[in-house]
Amino acid sequence: MHIDNEILEQVGYVDAPIDPTLDLFQAIDDLKKEKNAVVLAHYYQEPDIQDVADYIGDSLGLAQAAAKTNADIIVFAGVHFMAETAKILNPSKKVLLPDLKAGCSLADSAPADLFAAFKAKHPNHLVISYINCTAAIKAQSDIICTSSNALAIINSLPAEQEIIFAPDKNLGAYLNKVSGRNMVLWNGACMVHEIFSVEKITKLIVRHPKAKLLAHPECEEAVLRLADFIGSTTQILNYSAKDDAQEYIVATETGILHQMQKLAPNKTFIPAPPTNACACNDCPHMKLNTLEKLYNAMLYELPEIEMKEELRLASLQPIQRMLDISAAAGLLG
Ligand code: 13P
Ligand code: SF4
Repeated sequence: MHIDNEILEQVGYVDAPIDPTLDLFQAIDDLKKEKNAVVLAHYYQEPDIQDVADYIGDSLGLAQAAAKTNADIIVFAGVHFMAETAKILNPSKKVLLPDLKAGCSLADSAPADLFAAFKAKHPNHLVISYINCTAAIKAQSDIICTSSNALAIINSLPAEQEIIFAPDKNLGAYLNKVSGRNMVLWNGACMVHEIFSVEKITKLIVRHPKAKLLAHPECEEAVLRLADFIGSTTQILNYSAKDDAQEYIVATETGILHQMQKLAPNKTFIPAPPTNACACNDCPHMKLNTLEKLYNAMLYELPEIEMKEELRLASLQPIQRMLDISAAAGLLG
């Protein structure tokens, strides 16, 4: 079947019909073998996608997996900045994203031109950027970090070094608090982690007095203040599996509950409620990917992440620094 590139760009994914009797799990497995393809998935993907993935991880784990894969094709079940990072690390491999429109509100909150002007006002500062940003922001950064390794990255710089932290102001404020630094923060945020209601979480804690609150550092300070444990998705997951409590309130995107429940089937995991009746603690970007889109992406090898070599090289350096510092500190995502 011929795929019209213009339509593909408009729609964002290969909208080709799929035989409804096809066993998609088996078909995806067959395509992996036939094409030497690997499926990397973030914890925020829908359960079916997590179940077909070769590797599931947080942003650091996914970048590390992308850096060491021998596959010819990387199918990235996540959002655009994650697939872009995989491409930056693997220029000769095909990197597919099931839906090209799977973006990120946090990455969108830092337009490259505005950030360049902001950076120009702080000429003595080094830039640490959270991996949830575009390649154009990475190219303006000195080191990239994720929520797993941010503290180690900050601590790798001398105490007197002035730092800009972008784009997440909540993670930045949390890191200022735990590191004792005074980093200048870019005013960006994640739409999912900003939606949790402190009032509703407090009521839940009253109703479940033995439950522990697990929170991602992209949450606002008022939520983090209530948390028993703060960490990246992998760190929260590992904590919930090893800890001896039986009940947890989880303040991050709901996709993580699938792995939490798998690792600890007898424990109870309650998604932290958003401020209104919407399902806003589901990331609308992450959830654009579906098993059908993933299958078609593998079958047609589209849509593919492409980028200019100049931008790739400029954004590679700060990512490589992050990977090197993480490896030296023994940090895995
Ligand atoms: P981590 O998986 O690194 O914790 O990041 C969470 C997130 O918001 C990814 O978009
Ligand atoms: Fe971006 Fe937030 Fe969605 Fe993660 S959860 S992809 S930070 S919008």
